[in-house]
Amino acid sequence: MTEIRRPETRESFEQRKRDHIRIALDPRTQALGGSGLDRVVLTHEALPDLNFENIQIKTTLLSTEVSSPFFISSMTAGHENGLMINTRLAKAAEAKNWLMGVGSQRKELTDDSAHTEWTEIRKSAPKAKLIGNLGLAQIIQTPVAKIEKMLETLNAVGLFVHLNPLQELMQPEGTPQFQGGLKALSNLAKNLKLPVIVKETGCGMSKTTLKRLSETGVAAIDISGFGGTHWGRIEGYRSEEQSLHHQAALTFKDWGISTVESVLNAREVCPQIPTWASGGVRSGLDGAKLLAMGATAVGIAKPLLDGAMQSEEQLLAKMNQFDYELKVALFCTGLATVDSLRTQKVWTWI
Ligand code: FNR
Repeated sequence: MTEIRRPETRESFEQRKRDHIRIALDPRTQALGGSGLDRVVLTHEALPDLNFENIQIKTTLLSTEVSSPFFISSMTAGHENGLMINTRLAKAAEAKNWLMGVGSQRKELTDDSAHTEWTEIRKSAPKAKLIGNLGLAQIIQTPVAKIEKMLETLNAVGLFVHLNPLQELMQPEGTPQFQGGLKALSNLAKNLKLPVIVKETGCGMSKTTLKRLSETGVAAIDISGFGGTHWGRIEGYRSEEQSLHHQAALTFKDWGISTVESVLNAREVCPQIPTWASGGVRSGLDGAKLLAMGATAVGIAKPLLDGAMQSEEQLLAKMNQFDYELKVALFCTGLATVDSLRTQKVWTWI
């Protein structure tokens, strides 16, 4: 068994991205049941003083009006299926007026032709509200002006910076160089013209992490907790069975802080910063629970990847399902708006 950081080539990058899509759709990579959402219930109101048609789920995120607090979580780019998947996602985001996080743009920092995929996608979805994406290791190494240029090309409304320490260690091409990250993040949040949202990728956030992040000036924090797609598992299943990474991924398959606990941590430690929630959101009711706990936006990745792999219609049907179930939760708690869901205490534990 040998360890091993492998340098990345164009071929290995594209292969890795293809593997991620394939393996993310395998149920073994889902930490379902771990989000804590099954233990949260919303209080039923048998006598809502409302008509269903008056329920409003539109909201404002990053100073832009969107039709729903749900957003498409950052996923993929830079391989042969990426164009198809992202075109479908971006067209659906535009049609629904949801925010959409794009997949990591790391490749665009070193490959001048990499942005052409997004130029192509923009032709089909010129008005989609896209949020760029880079990892912490790239933020540390890249001047703000270069990041700004990358986001201008995408015509982005903000930037997600992802934190993924476990994933970086589970992949042979990983970049587990996070030293100086907090300072780089503060510098970026202060100097970038667009809002910066820092996110995990499915392992959640502790109170200590959140306290440190709260001093960086980021516009929002997406806790992306444990309970859905798990990157330790995905990278583990990518590796050969007897390899160090595969074995380590099995050891760490339940590593992380649940989505529910992470949201509660964020609301306690940094209530002044908008909490975005993702990780294991599998229904509109899951989203409603997180909003009731104080989140302002709710991200969905894997279920929308499933939809996008099937067809544009399937993807839109899934997004409509999330919105409809959120409206049902509002009606059945007697509340007309997402804001009232966030401010009335309508959730309890079981
Ligand atoms: C992701 N995720 C992700 N996050 C990020 O910040 N940058 C990225 O490039 C990717 N890539 C990626 C690819 C695929 C195929 C998936 C499924 C996910 C993580 C994602 O945004 C989200 O945080 C987690 O997947 C948890 O959400 P779900 O999948 O449980 O809804």
